[in-house]
Amino acid sequence: MSSIADIRKDYMQATLDEADLGENPIVFFEKWFAQADAAMVNEVNAMTLATVDDQSKPHARIVLLKAIDDKGFTFFTNYQSNKGKNLSVNPNAALVFFWPELERQVRIEGLIEKVSKAESDTYYLSRPRGSRLGAWASPQSSIIENRAVLEAKEKEFLEHFDGKEIHRPEHWGGYRLKPNRVEFWQGRSSRLHDRICFELDTTNQWQKFRLAP
Ligand SMILES: Cc1cc2nc3c(=O)[nH]c(=O)nc-3n(C[C@H](O)[C@H](O)[C@H](O)COP(=O)(O)O)c2cc1C
Repeated sequence: MSSIADIRKDYMQATLDEADLGENPIVFFEKWFAQADAAMVNEVNAMTLATVDDQSKPHARIVLLKAIDDKGFTFFTNYQSNKGKNLSVNPNAALVFFWPELERQVRIEGLIEKVSKAESDTYYLSRPRGSRLGAWASPQSSIIENRAVLEAKEKEFLEHFDGKEIHRPEHWGGYRLKPNRVEFWQGRSSRLHDRICFELDTTNQWQKFRLAP
């Protein structure tokens, strides 16, 4: 194996010009997402979510994007998890997508709020029975003694819901990040990448500018 310091790649696939992006970053994100999906990017909807705790300490983990519209970017999780606790004290958050097959990165920053209970119910009920049970069985982010604890919880809820509809637990649902800054990054040769950023101004209009790589 070569040394980590020697691993490098030159990006040659595409370019990104101010004129390509139009005036709305969500519309352009949808275009890039469709291209990433068509290019069979692995786990195309996986994104890094960064949150901040009550000591201003950042925490990052992957979650799955489940919806995108003009209101923002939606994912689902346990509201009592560490990320849920972070978001209850500080709604500022950031998302990062990396699509290596297309040599692209998208960074999104904004404020997060819970989606409506009806939206959470609709998505929850679309999930397979096993995933729905998991939401009941896993006290996400809590320390547990061993794996057997989890399996016992799963069995307990399996029996509890036997022959019944598994409804959404109150502690599980969606969050939506409403963006105020979105940056599109296209890898270019010799580290002279293209970075075009949108930011909401004080009149709620998107302003677009280029950043040095
Ligand atoms: C590919 C992938 C997708 C994931 N999707 C989700 C998700 O949609 N929701 C979720 O709560 N956790 C998801 N996770 C697990 C999280 O990364 C994390 O372990 C969990 O949410 C607990 O994070 P927290 O303790 O910071 O709250 C995913 C992990 C991976 C690797």
